[in-house]
This record gives sequence, C-alpha cells and structure tokens, in this order.
Amino acid sequence: VVVMRRRMRNGGRWGKAEAVVRELEERCSTPAGKLRQVADAMTVEMHAGLASEGGSKLKMLISYVDNLPTGDENGLFYALDLGGTNFRVMRVQLGGKEGRVAKQEFAEVSIPPHLMTGTSHELFDFIAAELAKFVATEGEGFHLSHGRQRELGFTFSFPVRQTSISSGTLIKWTKGFSIDDTVGEDVVAELTKAMERQGLDMRVSALVNDTIGTLAGGRYTDKDVVVAVILGTGSNAAYVERAHAIPKWHGLLPKSGEMVINMEWGNFRSSHLPLTEYDQAMDTESLNPGEQIFEKLVSGMYLGDIVRRVLLRMAEEAAFFGDTVPPKLRIPFVFRTPDMSAMHHDHSPDLKIVGNKLKNILGITNTSLKTRKTIIEICDIVAARGARLAAAGIYGVLKKMGRDTIIRDGEKQKTVVAVDGGLYEHYTFYRECLHSTMIELLGEGVSDTVILEHSNDGSGTGAALLAASHSQYLDVDES
Ligand code: GLC
Repeated sequence: VVVMRRRMRNGGRWGKAEAVVRELEERCSTPAGKLRQVADAMTVEMHAGLASEGGSKLKMLISYVDNLPTGDENGLFYALDLGGTNFRVMRVQLGGKEGRVAKQEFAEVSIPPHLMTGTSHELFDFIAAELAKFVATEGEGFHLSHGRQRELGFTFSFPVRQTSISSGTLIKWTKGFSIDDTVGEDVVAELTKAMERQGLDMRVSALVNDTIGTLAGGRYTDKDVVVAVILGTGSNAAYVERAHAIPKWHGLLPKSGEMVINMEWGNFRSSHLPLTEYDQAMDTESLNPGEQIFEKLVSGMYLGDIVRRVLLRMAEEAAFFGDTVPPKLRIPFVFRTPDMSAMHHDHSPDLKIVGNKLKNILGITNTSLKTRKTIIEICDIVAARGARLAAAGIYGVLKKMGRDTIIRDGEKQKTVVAVDGGLYEHYTFYRECLHSTMIELLGEGVSDTVILEHSNDGSGTGAALLAASHSQYLDVDES
C-alpha cells in the first residue's frame, strides 16, 4: 500500500510538472504566422520612430554616421567598449587600403558589479583608469603621427541621444546598469573629465552604439553589410536608412544620402509577443520594469532567469525537486544563460552536465534522468522562443529595407547582416534555430541572398574606424 501511494503521489507530481511544461510550451509557441505579425509590427514601429521623436517605443536613434568605413582609414586609434558584463579596450594601427589592420591589441576587464549600480563618477573613473593602464603599455608596431593627440572611438552600448558624432546624452540605462546621475548627461563629457582626472591625454572622436560599431566593422571587410544585430547580454539592431526616409531628421541631407539608425529594438513591444506569467514577473521585479520587453524575451541576460522561474514554480507546485523547494532557486539571476546553454547541449546518455550544474549552481542533488530531460525541454522552449523572435525582428528590418526579396530596383541584391554577441556566438542551439527560422520566414530562394555573418568583435574595430574617419586631423574640406 505504501509503495502504491508513493507511486500515485509521484504520478501526481509528474502530472502537474508535465502540465506546467505543456502550458509553457503553448504560451511560448511562435508559429510562422505569429512571427510574421511580429515582423510587421516591427516595421510599423520603425516607421513611427523615424517619423517623430517619441513617436514609438522604438527610438530609431540617429547615429550621425552617414559614411561607413572605406578601407582608407589610417593611423593609430583606440577603442573602448562598455556595455555588457565585460569592458574592453583596444588599440589598432590602421594601414590604409594596402595595410588594412596592421596591428591590434586588446585588454578585457570585467566590471565589478557594484559599479553597475553605483555613481557615475566611480564608473567613469574605473574605465578611465583601466584605459590609462592600457595606453601605458603601447609598444612596438604602433605609431602616433608626430604632434598628434591620441584619439578614441567610444562604444557605449546604451540608448543615447546623439548631438553629434562625438557627443550624446544617456536616455536610460539597460541590462542591469542603473546609475541615476548619468541619465541625461553627455557620456563623452563624463569620460573626458575622468580621463583628465587620470592625466590621460586623449580625445573621444566618435561615440557609437555597439550595433553601429558592428555595422562599421562589418562593412570594412564586406561591402554588402547593411544591418548589424547584437545578441548578447542585451539585444539591438542598426541598419542603413535612406536619409530622406527619416522625417524627424532636420539636419542637412548627408552627401551619401544615407544615415545609420540605432533602432534600440530591445524596447520593442507588441501585443503579438508571446508573454508568459514568468516574463511578466521577471519584468516587474527587474531594474527597469515595463522597459526592454523584446530584449527580455530574446537576450542572454534574461533567458536563464526565465528557466529558473519555471523551475521554481515546478518546485513549489509540483514538488519537482522533492518535498522542499531548493532555496537557491529563489535567487534572481543565479542560473545564467551560459549554464543554460551548457545544460541544453548535454548529449551524454545520463545527462551528466545537467546533473552537475543542478548540483553546483542550485544545490540540487540526486536528480532522475526524467527530471533532467524535462529541464532540457524547458531550455528548448525558452531558447527557441527567443531565437525565433530575434529572427522575426531581423525579418522585420529586412522588410522595411526592401531586402526581403531577391530583386530590388531591377537588380539582384545581396544582403549581409553582421551579428555579434556572446549569445549568438556560444549558444549553438539558439544560433541554429535563428538561422533556420530566417529560412522559414524568407523562403528558400531569398534566404540564399541574405547572409548572417558572425562579426567577432567587429564593434571594437568599427569604433576605431569611425574615430579615424572623424579624426580631428582630417582635412575639413573633403570635396
Ligand atoms: C541594450 C542597449 C543597446 C545595446 C544592446 C546590445 O539593448 O540598450 O544600446 O545595443 O543592449 O548590447
């Protein structure tokens, strides 16, 4: 009798757990029809955001980049990249047409978490100090022309209202940063003051978003790059727009007739997005409730936490991990997307990696194979939803650009989308799902003409290239 009861009880638990997973699957489902609605909503919002300031949740920010790198860029330039969990500094010796990138060096530092929610002063002092240390190691192979000041491309991957190519004010923080006194300030002025405090003589010649840097870096090596997408801690896209299709732009019409737009698509939202109770709770408890809804569905900062929330509910309501709820499962963001990815790609027969991760991260031991399989299924559902929505976003951008067809203006077109970010780079299932969804949306024929290309830290090189093309030492008269 005891055995029977236990069986029944377990059967009941499994039934409940199973029900939670099936419900999740249903709520997260993204059939092609839904993705097309998302893509169409994206294009509608793109138009609205370009029409007027504040016209849409999509800010469609003007980057002041109206010329992408040509390959002629020359000289020593620095770049600084702030925007995720790490921040990078680099220097690059550009050798013009023949030399291209003659030499390049990096350093990467992780940002102490307390600086992400501290004061503006502290954050910029930290950055400037790291930059100064790096500059001090400049050695062979790098040449600064006589009498010149060092110049820097500053990749600052947050929404910024630019006032020129080398200035702009922070609209809001995203991705776990929250420092009130920076909002509304010119981030270049903040960095410049911090560099002065460090005794570092350097000028910021270009302020760019990581999407813009990636686009510029991508274009440097491939002339067909017209879109850049970041799938990392956060998510965003930039693309080349025709200047006369930007009604809110009141400046001079650029000679190129083009302007690169930083969409800030992370803040996209639409009734077509498949939001669950887990997403809603995560949003409410986040540092930026109500903001960056698309980003919270597709990007690396959040996927792991969505899975954690599903597991927590299963632990609470279906005793999924036994009679007590594992306490660590209650800690926001303990379960990170890289861990999720490692579990998801576990192909060992007994799912050893899943078991180890559960033990090491969540303190959950002795899980059955069935439990582990169920967890993989949850990873599958959450990652596939994210990747498919990201694909819908890209498809929406291509539609807006008229690049969802093979022929445009009577000519066959080729479109390259430069993609960067740790999520895309390291989460194989996510990347493959994104690719197959692109084919599903574009159709076999068109999908041959649209290429997604991984641009490995294109954004750093891109920022340096833009610093070069906006250097203070360039001739004023270009004509
Ligand atoms: C966030 C930022 C955006 C950035 C993206 C990727 O969405 O707001 O500026 O491009 O993350 O890093």
